[in-house]
Amino acid sequence: MARRKGNEIRQQSSIYAHIVGWGMQLPKKALTNEAIAAIIDTSDEWIKARTGINERRIADEQETTAWLGLQAAKNALALTNILPGDVDLVIVATSTPENIFPSTASLIQHWLGAKSAGAFDLSAACSGFVYAVDMAAQAIRSGSIEIAIVIGTETMSRVLDWQDRGTCILFGDGAGAVVLQAAREEGGVLSSVLRSDGGGADLLAIPTLNSTEIRSTESIGNPKLHKMYMHGSEVFRFATRVIGDSVREACRLAGITIDDVKLIIPHQANERIIQAAARSLDVEPERFMSNLSNYGNTSAASIPLALCDAVHEKRINAGDYIVLVGFGGGLTWASMAIRWSLPQPGEVQVSRMAENRRRIGYWLVKWRVRFRRLWRFLTWRGDDDLDS
Ligand code: UT7
Repeated sequence: MARRKGNEIRQQSSIYAHIVGWGMQLPKKALTNEAIAAIIDTSDEWIKARTGINERRIADEQETTAWLGLQAAKNALALTNILPGDVDLVIVATSTPENIFPSTASLIQHWLGAKSAGAFDLSAACSGFVYAVDMAAQAIRSGSIEIAIVIGTETMSRVLDWQDRGTCILFGDGAGAVVLQAAREEGGVLSSVLRSDGGGADLLAIPTLNSTEIRSTESIGNPKLHKMYMHGSEVFRFATRVIGDSVREACRLAGITIDDVKLIIPHQANERIIQAAARSLDVEPERFMSNLSNYGNTSAASIPLALCDAVHEKRINAGDYIVLVGFGGGLTWASMAIRWSLPQPGEVQVSRMAENRRRIGYWLVKWRVRFRRLWRFLTWRGDDDLDS
């Protein structure tokens, strides 16, 4: 029997996974190119010309990966009538999780009050958001769940080597999220292409204590530990090589052509990569979404941030085909074709009741957490007394 790719089989499902909410959260503090040039040997001109970046956001102590992701998820839910208790699955795509475990997704699931949801983190670097949307969409299309929240959230500034001008000028912090919901109406996520080449694992990485590279040298005090490194020009070449084929394949699986696509939303890594991709696909550069001049490269958060900006700029309307394309560490890359099925923000009728119930729910979770902490504190003191 001829081997059919999973995607072609799954397209026969009569349940579709639609994006019904989207939201983002950025740290307050912006860091300009000039401010970076004051601390390392670089310049505003070089950064703008070689990357297209003007500034990026940098998280403060309180703006953690989970906090940014939580706010993005709340903002996405706020556009819908969905209550956190209705959510079945929370997936967080990140390379800068709060912990190895528990997952950042579990923290967010708890803070949302999504009591019936499963939660896990997904590690596919800058392709992570597209991978995660695919996981959620397949779970919806199989009928095993109905509603999922997918979040891309990063605090890249905490893992950068601020002496390395090849990386620290590029990255920024932020979070974006989407809510996916099952519907019989045709559309939503139509196809996806997920790929990996671990042969390029050493081109771009954040080694932690368990990495062979770190264990083979002295781990304590190793300057590479938990810091990101990248062979920029090789990653650049890889990105420009894979984007075109991957986007074409996602279109083919969705049964559309590149001419049908209104907007391509690529991972925001470098303006020159976006232009090269436009040339390789023979598409006008204006049909590629770009907002990296404001936020830099936010890894797994960059695609949902660009998606949110595109919707708010009215560059996507109901019925439009869009393609998401991510690439990065792993190496990994991923494309996804989507038929946008929703009206613009503000045209969705969000009920007051849902809004209030969500607000009360968030408030209750906050107080429950405080109460639990106090209770543990009091109980621990009690144990000490028993030991003495
Ligand atoms: O998100 C995951 C995916 N990541 C990416 O897709 C990133 C892909 N890579 C890139 O975007 C680019 O490779 C960089 C922006 C990182 C670097 O740009 P490049 O044009 O590839 O520069 P390069 O590494 O080839 O270096 C060219 C020159 C070198 O100087 P010499 O050796 O020619 O004298 C570098 O030392 O530019 C120098 N350079 C800088 N100069 C001023 C590198 N970084 C800087 C800097 N400021 N920040």
